[in-house]
Amino acid sequence: MAEKITVSIIKADVGGLPGHVLVPDEIIEVAKQSLEEAKQSGDIIDYRVLNAGDDLDLIMTHREGVDSTKIHRIAWETFEKATEKAKELKLYGAGQDLLADAFSGNVRGMGPGVAEMEFTERESEPVLAFLMDKTEPGAFNLPIFRMFADPFNTAGLVIDPSMHNGFVFEIWDIYESKRVFMKTPEEIYDILALIGGKSRFVIKRVYPKEGKLPADEPVAVISTEKLYKIAGEYVGKDDPVALVRAQSGLPAVGEVIEAFAFPHLVSGWMRGSHNGPIMPVPFRYSKCTRFDGPPRVIAAGFQLANGKLVGPVDLFDDPAFDYTRQKAMEVAEYMRRHGPFEPHRLPSEDMEYTTLPGVLKKLKERFEDV
Ligand code: 13P
Ligand code: 13P
Ligand code: MG
Ligand code: MG
Repeated sequence: MAEKITVSIIKADVGGLPGHVLVPDEIIEVAKQSLEEAKQSGDIIDYRVLNAGDDLDLIMTHREGVDSTKIHRIAWETFEKATEKAKELKLYGAGQDLLADAFSGNVRGMGPGVAEMEFTERESEPVLAFLMDKTEPGAFNLPIFRMFADPFNTAGLVIDPSMHNGFVFEIWDIYESKRVFMKTPEEIYDILALIGGKSRFVIKRVYPKEGKLPADEPVAVISTEKLYKIAGEYVGKDDPVALVRAQSGLPAVGEVIEAFAFPHLVSGWMRGSHNGPIMPVPFRYSKCTRFDGPPRVIAAGFQLANGKLVGPVDLFDDPAFDYTRQKAMEVAEYMRRHGPFEPHRLPSEDMEYTTLPGVLKKLKERFEDV
């Protein structure tokens, strides 16, 4: 089994039922059929179709590597078929995230979000997929940091000799399109100085340091597409996804999940313009209701068996996360009471919608010097 395996999540919002609440079964069916064909023809090894609220998430395994035209085309054509169905059902925002008219070799820059990594499948390979709705890629900064760099979250950093050396974080500046590789634990203060500014600096990948696992094979990857950058204006938020490998020199599954026990504030929610808590929910609650939210995350746990996906296990479908959900609801209520005031509403420069320039223009003549 020397040949490497690739796990790809490619996602897009192709229309919601109703509004921006969720992906209906009819769309999930179309996507499953399309990926089943790809599996039958041998292009992919296995697949699962899930939804994070109104985002359609295609999880595929294959041996084509990352950024494969073949795999990206399968995803794009699946989204096209799903969009056709969404238009027939007149779903809200049908085809919202398909920003290009025709596929041109790679879905990057065309609207969909992508998280994929190629690695040597271990003796036993637990892989977790985290799918979010109503937020942005920076929402993963805090939990990914916690998993791989915070000893108060991940006991293995302290007590497992194979993790004790730490990890390498690949951090992107998504405004300037630049990246930097930084090491933990030695650079954690500098890392936090960057990733605390989560609308600009996002963790893209995590790598192991030299040791038990190949240092050039990622152990975590996050989608970082910014739709407004692509289209030059607001066309839908960049609801992110992530893949995380676990165990044997990496955080245990429970350490990975533990990072979501605190419902931290993320930006997104209503009209992509509000701060609110991210709530970990079971698959059946992967729908955004109150004020189009609050922002949610689901976790799908798999084992790989020569590229076949065993699972998923619905990891947040557990009373162990009730406390987190309760806390999230208290925070949601507290934030909502601020109505149109910051810091519930985002600062003007981060808002996806704004009437401010129009209001200022209207009042131009009435503003007096003071
Ligand atoms: P591994 O060393 O196999 O990752 O096991 C650790 C563990 O499962 C603790 O919960
Ligand atoms: P989505 O980005 O999930 O489509 O939500 C958009 C929105 O405006 C929610 O209020
Ligand atoms: Mg939507
Ligand atoms: Mg969405």
